[in-house]
Amino acid sequence: ICICGSLLVKLINTDLFLFFLIPVEQFPPVFISKPDPQTVYVGKRAVMQCVIAGTAPLNVVWLKDNQALPKVPAHYQSSYEKNKHTLEIPSAEAADSGLYVCNVSNKAGTAECHMELCVIDKPNFVRPLASVAQGSTARLQCTIKGSPELHSTWFLNNSELSTGGRHAVGLKDGVATLEIHDVLLTDSGNYTCEVLNECGCESCSIKVTVKEPPSIRKELLSTEAVRGSVAVLECEIAGSAPLEVSWKKNKKRLSSDKKYSIVSQGSLASLEIQSFESADTGEYECVVSNEVGSATSKSNLAGDYWGFWPDCWCKWLSAMLLTADLFVQMFNGQTALTDSVNLCFEYAMLTL
Ligand SMILES: *[C@@H]1O[C@H](CO)[C@@H](O)[C@H](O)[C@H]1NC(C)=O
Ligand SMILES: *[C@@H]1O[C@H](CO)[C@@H](O)[C@H](O)[C@H]1NC(C)=O
Ligand SMILES: *[C@@H]1O[C@H](CO)[C@@H](O)[C@H](O)[C@H]1NC(C)=O
Repeated sequence: ICICGSLLVKLINTDLFLFFLIPVEQFPPVFISKPDPQTVYVGKRAVMQCVIAGTAPLNVVWLKDNQALPKVPAHYQSSYEKNKHTLEIPSAEAADSGLYVCNVSNKAGTAECHMELCVIDKPNFVRPLASVAQGSTARLQCTIKGSPELHSTWFLNNSELSTGGRHAVGLKDGVATLEIHDVLLTDSGNYTCEVLNECGCESCSIKVTVKEPPSIRKELLSTEAVRGSVAVLECEIAGSAPLEVSWKKNKKRLSSDKKYSIVSQGSLASLEIQSFESADTGEYECVVSNEVGSATSKSNLAGDYWGFWPDCWCKWLSAMLLTADLFVQMFNGQTALTDSVNLCFEYAMLTL
């Protein structure tokens, strides 16, 4: 007996049963509704759904790029409810992008429906911009790949930024831009770019710190150093911490050692040169830098001579006296002064 349909039973009277076997017409599967192409963000849910008519039983198989779906039950979830068949990816990955096929077959035939899925990255800042210089123009750029973007909104610490004034926003070629002109220290904060497009609303945030670039408040002075003594070069600096101070002599960088000590204390940067000698004369530079800039102050350092009498010789003596036993002979013109002249050493000072 060929039984491939329903059984129809008809009761004629209480004693007689007549059985009619009527083959029921078989309908091949038909897609009543098909999924639209979809773009979703990485990590979001992708759902492909179609409604299929046709004689049961329907054998529904999902394929991706003409291959059976990998057997990863948590990643792909196929289900059906009545004639609605669903393939769900709870958390889409970039690799899930591709052409999906729903292949349905029954005894009467097969049907296929195709669906393109595109999984795109969330908006992201083009390059991490941590610190910007006060007074400069800061440009925050956020890429939005994939579908055409519709709208972008910028927030600073959760309050929406109004454009105009120092702020300008743009949205072009998949990049949302915020420009802040004449950056102020108070512009520091958490900037968020929220993008609305056909995949929904997504945002990205970045912490921006505005820093004061280094400056020289008080320049190094061109000075004369006393031979044998400690020569000190000093300048006053300003700028956002951390400030890095380096010193150069005739363009060559100096490091702290027996000869030089590099000291930074608050806003004062100083270089001490031990037992100054003629080789220590030259051009000295103090370079101050931080994350957002640098500043330089220069000075020429020359040695002093006996000729700077009488302003300097005492200092010279004071340095010498610390290091050696000294015989001092004073002259008035060509004439040596005798012991009867009252000459005294006290606290390393020579007094006549
Ligand atoms: C769909 O299923 C039918 C029957 O199982 C098969 O012959 C056909 O090759 C399938 N199509 C694809 C694209 O795999
Ligand atoms: C934003 O928040 C940070 C951290 O709380 C704060 O330091 C900054 O001053 C805030 N900026 C604005 C403009 O409110
Ligand atoms: C910045 O703001 C966003 C959105 O409100 C929030 O999710 C994020 O945690 C904040 N980031 C920082 C560093 O405060």
